[in-house]
Amino acid sequence: MTGYNALAEVYEWLISDAKLAPAEFAASFDDVLNLLPSNAHVLDCSCGTGQLAVGLAGRGMQVVATDASETMVRRTAELSEEFGASVRAVRANWEELPDHFQDNTFDMVFCVGNSLHHAVGARGRVAALESMSRLLRPGGRLVLTSRTWELVRARGSRLDISGRLVRRNGRDAIVVYRWEIAPHWEEEHHIEIAIAQVDTTGLVHVRSELLSCWPYRYEELEVELHRVGLQTEPSTFDLEAENYMVVASKV
Ligand SMILES: C[S@@+](CC[C@H](N)C(=O)[O-])C[C@H]1O[C@@H](n2cnc3c(N)ncnc32)[C@H](O)[C@@H]1O
Repeated sequence: MTGYNALAEVYEWLISDAKLAPAEFAASFDDVLNLLPSNAHVLDCSCGTGQLAVGLAGRGMQVVATDASETMVRRTAELSEEFGASVRAVRANWEELPDHFQDNTFDMVFCVGNSLHHAVGARGRVAALESMSRLLRPGGRLVLTSRTWELVRARGSRLDISGRLVRRNGRDAIVVYRWEIAPHWEEEHHIEIAIAQVDTTGLVHVRSELLSCWPYRYEELEVELHRVGLQTEPSTFDLEAENYMVVASKV
């Protein structure tokens, strides 16, 4: 299990303005959501602080939100309450999902926002994808978004410091990513993330966490999706873009 319990408390400083509002976050998936009935059963299996899950519930969908981090799950439940949304929030790793839900339950499963790289290596990734696939009903779709690791690895180890202050809840912070790129694709990589909040007296409060991740090439991901019984639809993968979305349907 990778971290996130420390980052969960300050996660809003890490997400873009576009993802902060639940309705807007959900709307960014309009193309796939339009394929669903309005009361569809959907699962967000790496829900983070819950903006997508709450946005989906706001559309009338029956939403379950899961995450490996207890703190993320608590924050999702709090956000749901704040918005009066009906979201069932459950702490579960991907591998544990079949213990909580029956096979063929969901019309759509989301695994978005650079989550899958936390699965431990190719074996962990396939096990995670296998769980997600099992829970989909035949014809249901997995929606996955990912960092373009081909680009990230080409840049090598480095420090990325936000070019401007990020303001959330009336507080400014500098966000720092330290990328530790291992020599080989299959090795454990690290991302250390620090959020340095500056208070009104000039004091700096830092929250940071070292996260492990196991990158993958888009080509590998496609093969792995097929291995777990999912058929990929045309994706947005582009070697020059930072992120991509892949949708795969259960055969
Ligand atoms: C980068 S965050 C993305 C959160 C959210 N989907 C978003 O877009 O803001 C990655 C999330 O994956 C979760 N995660 C990491 N490993 C996991 C695992 N093995 N099973 C389930 N969730 C996991 C983390 O706790 C974290 O909430």
